[in-house]
Amino acid sequence: MDDYSPGLEGVIAAKSRLCQIDGALGKLFYMGYPIEELVEGATYEECCYLLWHGRLPTREELAGLKQELIEKRTLPQQVIDFIALLPHTSHPMDALRTVASLLATFDQNPERSPEANLNRAVVLTAQFPTIIAHFHRLRQNQKPVEPHPKLGHAANFLYMLLGKEPDETMARVMDIAMILHLDHEMNASTFGALVTASTLSDLYSAVATGVGALKGSLHGGANEAVLKMLQEIGDPKNVEAFVDDALAKKVKMMGFGHRVYKNYDPRAKILKEYARRMSEKTKFSRFFKINDKLEKAMVERKGKQGIFPNVDLYSGIVYHQMGIATDLFTPIFAMARVSGWTAHVLEYWQDNKLFRPNSIYEGPGPRKFVPISQR
Ligand code: COA
Repeated sequence: MDDYSPGLEGVIAAKSRLCQIDGALGKLFYMGYPIEELVEGATYEECCYLLWHGRLPTREELAGLKQELIEKRTLPQQVIDFIALLPHTSHPMDALRTVASLLATFDQNPERSPEANLNRAVVLTAQFPTIIAHFHRLRQNQKPVEPHPKLGHAANFLYMLLGKEPDETMARVMDIAMILHLDHEMNASTFGALVTASTLSDLYSAVATGVGALKGSLHGGANEAVLKMLQEIGDPKNVEAFVDDALAKKVKMMGFGHRVYKNYDPRAKILKEYARRMSEKTKFSRFFKINDKLEKAMVERKGKQGIFPNVDLYSGIVYHQMGIATDLFTPIFAMARVSGWTAHVLEYWQDNKLFRPNSIYEGPGPRKFVPISQR
């Protein structure tokens, strides 16, 4: 009983070399590299290589991975036909989770070596953007846009989704958002993926578990919820009353708070700056102003409790300004995190141990069965 920690708070579930968070200081590192430096100098593909291989790539190695991702982007035609059959009204996270699972049926390779699994990780990472973009276009009765044979990972996603090549700034902001969402230590979806992987199930099942866990509003689903909240608030002048009302009713404010960060989430700091730059002089500046005021109001009231903005507070405004539908925000999070999930699973399988914790039994003691005729 002494060891019981609801939500496994504070419990150490695994050892990992991939990602480190300093919650008190609000710092994040991938393999020791500060997130701020990776955002400044690296691309999403480079960070994928870093986590999959445990070191930064050379120029040739990076070119090789980029080419591999490009070659694996196209979905089998049957998968595209399947996506077209999904109800247009279904949530894109449900579509993504289902199609991630479907991809397993097209992988007939019985090989379970680290190399074969790394290849699957690359396939999943390459195909997640295609699944999301195709689903979105098909639900709007538009033809899917074939992956671009040259564009980088983030730019190609925007191209397939919006039907035209993004400008350099837009592509770079998406790339940065993807770097920021790539990994985050032992978060709920990564843990979920590891639990599935620890049974020696397969990588597709682990990733489908990750997508399912990410969907919830306490985790990745918060970015979609933030934008809905901004729309509900409507105007910066309504912020204070909205916050007071929510806190009085003990409603959780989406985009605030974190299990590990008890300081400003460094990813939110970075995205806030891009959201600010993108909002300047546009019709979306109202959203930024609401968010900025919301942040001040929340930090004033809840900062001493360690509740600060998290990454989801500003990602929504950034995607919204790119013209992306609100219900695609969480799938975009998944599309970035898939390489993180797979990197953790590949690492965990090097020294696998089945996850099987205990629970405290609180039901009745042993008693005699009562046959149905006597109940
Ligand atoms: N708004 C208002 N109060 C919050 C809050 C928020 N977003 N997040 C935490 N709190 C408060 C709780 O009400 C609780 O207060 P109490 O002790 O007075 O009852 C206290 O902080 C602890 O909250 P708890 O939910 O137990 O902590 P946790 O570690 O389980 O929470 C989250 C982590 C992320 C689930 C939580 O902060 C949350 O629900 N945030 C909103 C959803 C979100 O943005 N998720 C994305 C995370 S990246």
